[in-house]
Amino acid sequence: PHSFYSSLRREAPVSQVEPGGMWAVTRYEDALHVLKNPQIFSSEGLRAATQPAWLGQRNPVSDSILVLDPPDHTRLRSLITRTFSAPGVARLESFVRSNAESIVADMLARRRVDFVESMGLTLPSRTMSALLGLDTSLAPRFKGWADAIVSFGITPPDATERQAELRATLTELKHHLGQVLELRRREPGNDVVSDLLQARAQGGVLSDDELLGFLVLLLVAGLETTYDLLGLCGLMLADQPDIWARLKADRTLVPKFVEEVLRFESPSQSTMRITTQETELGGVRLPKGAVLMVQFVSANRDESVFPNPHRFDLDRTGTPHLGFGHGIHFCVGAPLARLEARLAVEVLLERCSKLVREPGPVQWNVAVTTRGPAVLPLELHP
Ligand code: HEM
Repeated sequence: PHSFYSSLRREAPVSQVEPGGMWAVTRYEDALHVLKNPQIFSSEGLRAATQPAWLGQRNPVSDSILVLDPPDHTRLRSLITRTFSAPGVARLESFVRSNAESIVADMLARRRVDFVESMGLTLPSRTMSALLGLDTSLAPRFKGWADAIVSFGITPPDATERQAELRATLTELKHHLGQVLELRRREPGNDVVSDLLQARAQGGVLSDDELLGFLVLLLVAGLETTYDLLGLCGLMLADQPDIWARLKADRTLVPKFVEEVLRFESPSQSTMRITTQETELGGVRLPKGAVLMVQFVSANRDESVFPNPHRFDLDRTGTPHLGFGHGIHFCVGAPLARLEARLAVEVLLERCSKLVREPGPVQWNVAVTTRGPAVLPLELHP
């Protein structure tokens, strides 16, 4: 795909993948322009993909900040900025670290593991349980919930069995989050649900649908991409002994390593926008209602912004990547995702002499807009 995107950036940076279809936005500069102008490039484009007719009930994500434009977006997003700010998530550091430590100890005891399952799925699931106040025993269900929510838009209209399954999963998810809301109404705790309930009690600016939408969005957005990021970090550490050695010698490089994985691999590959009026982008006229796929995966390898873009470079400085998006929808969870990835890598460096990958091609997951290894068999050496 990278050579395909390179030629698009050169020859047709804003182009329709098929006649009458979506527009791919592949250059960094154009991607930035789209993300900086939400009044012209609306996130309503994402809403259509979250609410297919067959669902027969409201997808809570359709009421979430991800698909809203200002002023609703601004009003709702301000309710969680504090909880998810860097100082806000720093409070979780010792919790995340002790989980990473027990996961690595367990992996070392077993020696050969699927890293995606052992670390990639487990660390974010436990973190989200704590954040949302969900019972940890439900954590193994999270992956299925997150997968279901992101599958709505790509399930064919005639796949009735799959649709029934997805409806049942959504009902189950709503049920558990409803219970958390009930519980926190009675006994507020130290979690994002209590923060939101308190904000509502004080200002009354959050409807029931919006509250549930928030929780489901956080669960989905906080899991799928973080699974991928952790898997990608594990893959890079196992496959690049030079990088492993440099990080071992200098742990202060770990945050740069995480940023470069985000740029190089773009676990969140793209997002969607829809034009609210006729406009121009990269020299191309777009009609009102054009659906755009902003390709982070391409923008993050744009040679006009990143020298030697196809090189994984720990010493890279300069322009920030778009792995977490940009502008008003910039990922709320970025500080948390960075914290989880940094701690997972730090603990691996502390406890292991090396990671060895079973030879063979990587099996990638098949999600629409996220990408990471589906399984990653590793041998951990103490
Ligand atoms: C938004 C990526 C982890 C919550 C976004 C966007 C991107 C992104 C690209 C912007 C979407 C757009 O502009 O349409 C990622 C990546 C992650 C990650 C790559 C991990 C490696 C998390 C975590 C959470 C989270 C851990 C929460 C705990 C959100 C939310 C939004 C968002 C709530 C919507 C923000 C808004 O619309 O204002 N994320 N994310 N993300 N992310 Fe993340």
